[in-house]
Amino acid sequence: MTLHNFDVGNFLKHHWQQKPLLIRDAIPNWQSPLEPDELAGLACEEDIETRLIISSDGYEMRHGPFDGDQFAALENKIYTLLVQAVDHHIPEVSALLNAFRFIPNWRIDDVMVSYANEGGGVGAHYDQYDVFLLQGLGQRRWQIGQMCDGNTALLPHDDLRLMADFQVKDEWVLSAGDILYVPPMIAHNGIAQSDDCMTYSIGFRAPSQYELISHYSDYLLDNMQADMRYQDAGFHGQDNSGAIAENSIDRLHKMILSKISDKADFAHWLGKFVSAPKYGESHPSDIMAHNMQNGDEIIRNPASRFVYTDDGRSLYVDGIYYDCTGETANFAKALCSYVALIYQDSMSDDVKTLIQKLCTQNAICSS
Ligand code: SIN
Ligand code: CO
Repeated sequence: MTLHNFDVGNFLKHHWQQKPLLIRDAIPNWQSPLEPDELAGLACEEDIETRLIISSDGYEMRHGPFDGDQFAALENKIYTLLVQAVDHHIPEVSALLNAFRFIPNWRIDDVMVSYANEGGGVGAHYDQYDVFLLQGLGQRRWQIGQMCDGNTALLPHDDLRLMADFQVKDEWVLSAGDILYVPPMIAHNGIAQSDDCMTYSIGFRAPSQYELISHYSDYLLDNMQADMRYQDAGFHGQDNSGAIAENSIDRLHKMILSKISDKADFAHWLGKFVSAPKYGESHPSDIMAHNMQNGDEIIRNPASRFVYTDDGRSLYVDGIYYDCTGETANFAKALCSYVALIYQDSMSDDVKTLIQKLCTQNAICSS
């Protein structure tokens, strides 16, 4: 699937991480894969992250899961229901991501789907991440505001980061099939214009320096020997015993740098880190693994993450590493590129072994 009225090169050059872009009729003949009541059904499930924002009188946030009585009590209220990672559960929503493969897999976060009745919205805010806001059903007015930073004034609220001073710079009403791209830190406000307003937020992620350092150092500590120590044989004395001499600082600093400057080891950790499942170890989806037959389509679990490094020789699926060579490395690359894959009896034993392991891991299954 490719987006219409959209030029990837132009988008990457002028908009990605820089400025908003409205794409009218980006998906012609678009049909929302979910109805509002199906979204409400997902919001009742235990393992799905869900929020409800009621905005009839100020903004109130509640966490799911919800039940029928709670939805019934919303009559006469203005509200928005937000369901996270719908792509993990609904293959048709996961398939939407194929229109965004011009951005690498590891940058994809999830597809959040919202439902609002007329006037509903989450309030003016900014996000840390890039998002494509695809209008799924009904209409929504989107207002774009100023560029924010860590000092942008927020309204006092226990649960929501709403802006104290939202300055509208532009606004559009989006209909089903239209997309608005919003870069990180740009203020935005979406107000439902109809009682059936559904928005699909295709969200991206970008690790923070803090996150990288804290997780990578955990990995280093788990995998290193604790007995390597500072050595200074040949020390030839110093005038003032109170000084930490430059050459001592150098040696100590090198002890750290030598450990973190191993790029191959970093890439290995990164593959595991970025492919790790978002919601814990177990897959929310219950696709069952079974032996594949010649001609079967290989189906990827929509909740699984596939990335590779080193030209396919290192494959990472949901945090698990596979060492691949030759035909297996080519298979790994195809798997990660999301092209359709067909199981063939003529595949090498190594590829079949990898396929079997991925089935057992519940990352793939057959049609
Ligand atoms: C929504 O779908 O209502 C909110 C999406 C967003 O502003 O990020
Ligand atoms: Co937002």
